Amino acid sequence: MHAATLYDLVAPVYQRILAPLHDLGLSRAVERALGAGPESVLDVGIGPGRGIALLSGDGRRVVGVDVSRRMLRLADAHLTAERARASLTRANALALPFRSGSFDAVVSTYLLDVLTDAEMAPALNELVRVLSPGGRLVLGTMALPNTLTHQVWMAAYRALPELVGHSRPADPHPHLRTQPLRVLREEQVKGWVGMRVLTTVKTG
Ligand SMILES: C[S@@+](CC[C@H](N)C(=O)[O-])C[C@H]1O[C@@H](n2cnc3c(N)ncnc32)[C@H](O)[C@@H]1O
Repeated sequence: MHAATLYDLVAPVYQRILAPLHDLGLSRAVERALGAGPESVLDVGIGPGRGIALLSGDGRRVVGVDVSRRMLRLADAHLTAERARASLTRANALALPFRSGSFDAVVSTYLLDVLTDAEMAPALNELVRVLSPGGRLVLGTMALPNTLTHQVWMAAYRALPELVGHSRPADPHPHLRTQPLRVLREEQVKGWVGMRVLTTVKTG
């Protein structure tokens, strides 16, 4: 099933049940993305908008994209409820509709986990392309709490990927080596679905 169709379908459940469980990880990723005081930030794969709402403020330009129309509607409602400002656009991470170097920071949480292995490198190319030199790219990926949870999750992913939102813990490292990125910090935020937060800076 295509990601847009799947996430249109699961959006309300994701918003009510799963998204609040991600708040600790989202806050950390946002903190890292804002660490160097960017004037413009792009969030890719925003889901119901809890992360992008935290990015808004201090007059910075905040832009969010997602392939799911329903997620974009939920994110819009969440931004309004939080009195947060951001511009939202429907777009695919594999072909971002922005010029190269247009953002001082790019953040993406739990997006790489839902992409296929083949999509990961082209998506990272895009995230790095739209980032300005010296800007931060912050990637949040799934970090399941223990081996048993990991095994159960992977069994579900193989048998019925839709059940787990087509997601499994992604490892961006092999793809990062080919990018003009330097890793500043790697940390793990604990939780039922924890988050590995990788903070990098674009070197050229
Ligand atoms: C697991 S959710 C993560 C949402 C949010 N970032 C969070 O941390 O809660 C993944 C999101 O990525 C979106 N998505 C999936 N494939 C995408 C793609 N190729 N381009 C843009 N968004 C995509 C889905 O629609 C969904 O909203």
